[in-house]
Amino acid sequence: MRHLCDVAPEGALPYPVFSGSDATGALLSLWRRDWRQAVVIGDETTATLRGEALGAALQARGCEVLTLRFPAGERHKTRATKERLEDAMHAARIERGACVVAVGGGVVLDLAGFVAATYHRGIAHVNVATTLLAQIDAAIGGKTGVDTPHGKNLVGAFHQPRAVLLDHDALATLPEDERRNGLAEAVKHATLSDAGLFATLEAWDGHGALPSEDVIARCVAIKAEIVGKDARDRGVRNTLNFGHTVAHALEAASGHVLAHGRAVAIGLVVESRVAAALGGFPPADVERIAALLARLGLPTRPALPFSEALPYFASDKKGSGSAIRCALPSRLGEVHPVDGSYTRSVTLEALEAAWC
Ligand SMILES: NC(=O)c1ccc[n+]([C@@H]2O[C@H](COP(=O)([O-])OP(=O)(O)OC[C@H]3O[C@@H](n4cnc5c(N)ncnc54)[C@H](O)[C@@H]3O)[C@@H](O)[C@H]2O)c1
Ligand SMILES: [Zn+2]
Repeated sequence: MRHLCDVAPEGALPYPVFSGSDATGALLSLWRRDWRQAVVIGDETTATLRGEALGAALQARGCEVLTLRFPAGERHKTRATKERLEDAMHAARIERGACVVAVGGGVVLDLAGFVAATYHRGIAHVNVATTLLAQIDAAIGGKTGVDTPHGKNLVGAFHQPRAVLLDHDALATLPEDERRNGLAEAVKHATLSDAGLFATLEAWDGHGALPSEDVIARCVAIKAEIVGKDARDRGVRNTLNFGHTVAHALEAASGHVLAHGRAVAIGLVVESRVAAALGGFPPADVERIAALLARLGLPTRPALPFSEALPYFASDKKGSGSAIRCALPSRLGEVHPVDGSYTRSVTLEALEAAWC
């Protein structure tokens, strides 16, 4: 694997991001001698696809390995699954010096990272990202957590991994729909920080591999830089929520059936339309974002009326004049704070007007 960059979050150890083939070799070379126990956590797909081989390699090195799995899908990113994993770890006498190896997409990394954050008040973990979405977003930055019936990611912790491995070989088995979900976050990163990357995505001719290793590396660099400036989501990291206020409401309203990437694609269009209506963001760029997402095979319109998503927006009141906060770009490739904040107040009326 190739060393892409180091992430240096405030208040945590800096950690490397590796990318390419041979995740097993990379894991063995970064493994610390004092991690005598490994807890490999995957979903039912990723545990078989990668987790077992990683566990076997660690075991051959003399490490005690416990492999745990849970059913795939956002519906299982819950406190109940977390409890089941933790109980299995206690039953196997996993100690404070163990390291969790999270193997999978964003669901696995968020959940296994949260297990690592709270088990014995926090143990080490390494992320092995097997979906495109996880490689360009979820694996980096230390946001861990689970969903609740009240909404997405409502219980969680900041807990940075010790290393991140972006497993390119795994992408060969990734279903097409899942690849597209990852591209939604690439469009987000490009819209926020890199107009050149946006143009690269637009220039894709529909054939050949997308994203290229270069596109993945550019997305990782954007995320790593933002996390390095604001690990705790108090400032510039808020910008990464662009599209997500709407996306999280759509996901919750669908009972977590709508995939995160697809919800983000719709959220990017609705929220960029809000940014244009508030002034500053060029309406022509809203059209560029919608056209790019459509060409990448992603949805661009909410499939349900605003009234059905409304209960899932985190607003104090739902009546006229109430507002929520959205992270909005200033123009393609740029976000600037407004009155010192990277989020802006958006009335529910303005959001409804952009809902088409
Ligand atoms: N923590 C963060 O900063 C952050 C950022 C973005 C998204 N997220 C979270 O990530 C989640 C979405 O992640 P996701 O899109 O990766 O979904 P996911 O983890 O559910 O993976 C999607 C599907 O692909 C399967 N899969 C994974 N790797 C595979 C492979 N190599 N080959 C074949 N199948 C494979 C999984 O089993 C699953 O069925 C959401 O919960 C979202 O909130 C977190
Ligand atoms: Zn996201």
